[in-house]
Amino acid sequence: MWDERFSEPGFAYGKEPNDFLVSVAGRLKPESRVLCLGEGEGRNAVWLAQRGHRVTAVDLSTVGLEKARRLAEARHVTISTVHADLAAYDLGDAAWDAIVAIFLHLPPDARRDLHRGVVQALAPGGVFVLEGYATDQLQHGTGGPKNLSMLLALAELKDQLAGLELPIARQVTRGVYEGRYHAGAGAVIQIVATRPRATPPTA
Ligand SMILES: C[S@@+](CC[C@H](N)C(=O)[O-])C[C@H]1O[C@@H](n2cnc3c(N)ncnc32)[C@H](O)[C@@H]1O
Repeated sequence: MWDERFSEPGFAYGKEPNDFLVSVAGRLKPESRVLCLGEGEGRNAVWLAQRGHRVTAVDLSTVGLEKARRLAEARHVTISTVHADLAAYDLGDAAWDAIVAIFLHLPPDARRDLHRGVVQALAPGGVFVLEGYATDQLQHGTGGPKNLSMLLALAELKDQLAGLELPIARQVTRGVYEGRYHAGAGAVIQIVATRPRATPPTA
């Protein structure tokens, strides 16, 4: 499905970065090692690279990743791309200063395992940024999966991200206008989660 969508002319979700990511990107330290999960055609990865971060984009779609590399080239930046299924992908251990998941919708088991992997993969002080459609999005019909089990619930996410601090964890309804497929008021979950820095041992 994703290769098909990304083979259509233009960029399915546009070339501009996601609004929520833009609004919180100041929380990333300079030259962060950033892993973008389910990054598709690369709009967020390329924008982060333009801000000086060292970005790796992972996706299931080779067509999307090829477009991401071309977008990076056009913007005179470099990103690394990894073709992988996130249902079976090792994010590593304390390997990333930031992990970004924008409108990535996975089946429940894969979602749980991925979020547990995020907790482990963030370096101390690292930041996880997520925006995705909430279960209430089914009432809006302005984008996202039509299957309830693929949509996000705040309580579940908080549980899966246990161990991280949550400066932002909310559900909001906002206008999401991103390319052809996100077109109107949508119910979204927004998360900024940080891994606490290691505290020095007390004497
Ligand atoms: C709605 S698109 C969002 C793309 C991008 N994050 C953005 O905001 O423009 C969802 C993306 O998740 C990717 N995806 C879905 N399931 C995946 C999986 N199991 N492993 C890796 N990528 C996956 C799709 O290929 C697609 O690029």
